Amino acid sequence: MKEEKAYVITGPTSGIGYETALELAKHGTVVLVGRNRNKLEEVKRTINERGQDAAMVVCDVSDIISVKHAAKEIASLGLPIAGLLNNAGIMPQKALKNAQGWDLTFATNYLGAFALTEALVPHLPDGANVVFIGSAIEDPERKPAKVMGMKGGQYLSAESSAKGIWKPGGAKMAGIDAYATSKQCVLAAAMVLARETPRLHFNVIEPGITPGTGLGNNGNRFVHFLMGSMMQLMMLLPAFSRYKSTPKKSAKVISDVVTDTSGRTGVYFDQKGNPMQGSVLSRSKEFQERVVLETRALLEKYS
Ligand SMILES: NC(=O)c1ccc[n+]([C@@H]2O[C@H](COP(=O)([O-])OP(=O)(O)OC[C@H]3O[C@@H](n4cnc5c(N)ncnc54)[C@H](OP(=O)(O)O)[C@@H]3O)[C@@H](O)[C@H]2O)c1
Repeated sequence: MKEEKAYVITGPTSGIGYETALELAKHGTVVLVGRNRNKLEEVKRTINERGQDAAMVVCDVSDIISVKHAAKEIASLGLPIAGLLNNAGIMPQKALKNAQGWDLTFATNYLGAFALTEALVPHLPDGANVVFIGSAIEDPERKPAKVMGMKGGQYLSAESSAKGIWKPGGAKMAGIDAYATSKQCVLAAAMVLARETPRLHFNVIEPGITPGTGLGNNGNRFVHFLMGSMMQLMMLLPAFSRYKSTPKKSAKVISDVVTDTSGRTGVYFDQKGNPMQGSVLSRSKEFQERVVLETRALLEKYS
């Protein structure tokens, strides 16, 4: 018999998150957190049709106020939350703003996930897992990213990132510095949270290069097609094919980490569920602490 457990997932309406929501539903009630009510209802219906349980909470993860409301709503469901998966993410090719006027990529991928986690931590029982979806793009030495002209995270400060200002000398491709920096902060912050709160487990997963999801699809079908084709072509090269994944494969690995009961914390997992190393900067404790300190200062007025 299935144990009474619940798993919260952001971004369950597409790609990796959709497949992971279906996986998690095999382990307990899934709380679907997304910005589009119709899409959420569709995912909920699919899960219910399989005889499994789901609840839904409408939330724009990029909007800190919306995140605060959602955290309250999730807590008020009174479910035994065994895992929180911060999966929602975007990679737009142009600089956009969130409700607070902050860089949309940084706000969605990092600030919103961080704010949701901080708001839910007091409601999580001992032993619960908090998992973030990272990206190896944060590492300037990562081969596939290097080949595509990516330069890794370009962090100056949390405030600069919120303003969409990145360290000079970044990637030529628009939107990449914002994306890489947001994922570097995710990784750095997760390590601090793991040290600060040992009663919970905080881990990060790099899901692998997973073409065919909605990532990078910002209304421009041609650019999205081009990016997708570039990724597919790259995957044909033996040096890169080992990083390849599919939403279903990633979902299995992610779901294993979210439902894990071994107590592992502070681990960065690769697309196969093996521990991996992040960039040199992301591993610096000084950098990690600075990121969290500056993030908390930035979010303070919304606490
Ligand atoms: N695909 C890859 O190769 C790859 C590689 C490394 C890391 N990742 C990471 O994997 C995660 C999932 O990405 P994916 O590839 O599956 O992309 P995807 O298909 O575009 O899925 C993104 C999900 O995030 C949701 N989302 C976006 N902005 C949101 C917001 N403001 N509020 C609430 N939900 C929001 C989307 O909701 P809507 O359906 O409403 O748009 C969707 O459910 C992301 O964190 C991404 O950075 C992906």
